[in-house]
Amino acid sequence: MNQGKFYVTTPIYYVNDRPHIGHVYTTTLADIVARFRRLLGQDVFFLTGVDEHAAKVVDSAKEKGMTPIQWADLNAAVFRETFQKHGFTHNDFVRTTEDRHKTKVREYVAALLKTGDVYLGEFEGWYDAGQEEYVTDTAAQEYKFISPINKKPLVRKKEKNYFFRLSAYRQVLKDYFTSNPKFVMPTARRNEILNRIAEMVDVPISRTGTGGWGIPMPADEQQSIYVWIDALFNYLSFVDTPERRGYWQSGAVHLIAKDILWFHAAIWPAMLVALQKCPGYEWVTLPKQVYTHSFWTRDGEKMSKTLLNFVSIEDMDRYIGWVGQDGFRHFLASHGPLGTTDSDFTDERLIEVYNNDLANTLGNNVSRVANMTNSYFAGVLPVAPAGALEQAAKQAVENYLAAMAELDLAGAIAAGIGLVRAADEYIEKTAPFKMWKDPAKKEGVGPILADLAETLRIASVLLSPVLPAKMEELWKRLGLDYADALKAGRGDFVSWTKWGGLKAGSTIVKGDALFPRFELPPKV
Ligand code: MSP
Repeated sequence: MNQGKFYVTTPIYYVNDRPHIGHVYTTTLADIVARFRRLLGQDVFFLTGVDEHAAKVVDSAKEKGMTPIQWADLNAAVFRETFQKHGFTHNDFVRTTEDRHKTKVREYVAALLKTGDVYLGEFEGWYDAGQEEYVTDTAAQEYKFISPINKKPLVRKKEKNYFFRLSAYRQVLKDYFTSNPKFVMPTARRNEILNRIAEMVDVPISRTGTGGWGIPMPADEQQSIYVWIDALFNYLSFVDTPERRGYWQSGAVHLIAKDILWFHAAIWPAMLVALQKCPGYEWVTLPKQVYTHSFWTRDGEKMSKTLLNFVSIEDMDRYIGWVGQDGFRHFLASHGPLGTTDSDFTDERLIEVYNNDLANTLGNNVSRVANMTNSYFAGVLPVAPAGALEQAAKQAVENYLAAMAELDLAGAIAAGIGLVRAADEYIEKTAPFKMWKDPAKKEGVGPILADLAETLRIASVLLSPVLPAKMEELWKRLGLDYADALKAGRGDFVSWTKWGGLKAGSTIVKGDALFPRFELPPKV
């Protein structure tokens, strides 16, 4: 198992509005990845934060009668609080208005100016103000000159700009894609990008008329660095310190959604290759992976500002009231749009998944095992686990690791929950509650309960990145100190998932239902 460093990031989110489920979703995924890697014993750095220098931040601030920074401060604080409330374990929450970022970005761009990878030119094209990007002429025609994002007309814009020599990196990128077939995942997304790389042209990386909202171009204060270039650099700038550089070099894993894939899979690595050629930046390596998920829809509809149907902070609070923080995470991770298809969020689906997997399976199994152990053996395992479920546990661990390696969270969860289901079947088959009443069979109950408790222990380790609070509670009941070890950076997946952790004499404390069943309130 790799004990080294691990670096995972989320997009930095625009502060023109408050967070919604889309932002919480990607950050939940990153949190699960970060917790999983810590469980493996790796030294993890998990970065998230906000993207501030967008023109739409200026526009929405104006609507509110505020300055851009006032509005950005307010929303950045809401993002920060929301991420705290959701229990995310990011190591830094960053803002692009911070000096430590702005200084670095100017240094990077200055270095690129020197090598000629950034040069002054003139640009004219169709601009999508909603997405903050120029679209190609072909795309503009396809869209009938209306932004597919905000439905406003595209504008014809002409400006003197600094350009990034993207066209020089076609072959380099192609080679990188070829030698790193998992650079862009899932594979279908990778192919989309590969096809476009051959046609890459130089892109403007500066803007005029931003009214001072943005990072000024080095040596030309009339121009601001384009918000997307500013934003992409966050992944590097915030770990570009002697203490953190090792994380960058371990190979960043960027989690994003399909809307921003081109920037991450083409422009970003090309900029890094260009930077690598600059004196003093030889240490800059390329990211390991850009993992691209799809979108949540709601009740069958795309979430949008016009429909006002975003799953909002308040909605999420309500859901957490219903199924708990971990129940909500479990739904996002097991039924979210991790692959190439969108996923639909409905109240009914959330509750159904929670009741099936967590209340009726995991929670119920915990209660059964704790109840029997307490009724028959005063809560103390009379013998060590025998091994009836050892093979099932081994297989589950293998399946789990294979799934996690592909970021198949639904598969990883299925491995953990599947192991609990196997334990349930074993209870049905052996019926220890009947055996206990039969003097001839009573003796067999101890080993069965020890096996069940041991199986639960292993399943709890597998499920802990998704259900951190509840599994911590379960570990407490089983007398395990894993939570402390994890907090101290001593995760030990291999030994914690090895059969035989619970011994004769281990205690199992009975407690409240871990995942109480929930019924949906009638619709009003
Ligand atoms: N600021 C840029 C990103 C710069 S990264 C260097 C940006 N911000 S954003 O606020 O629009 O966030 C986009 C991201 O939010 C998506 O890539 C995705 O991670 C998340 N989501 C936004 N809406 C979403 C859904 N409906 N479903 C799932 N995730 C989505 O783009």
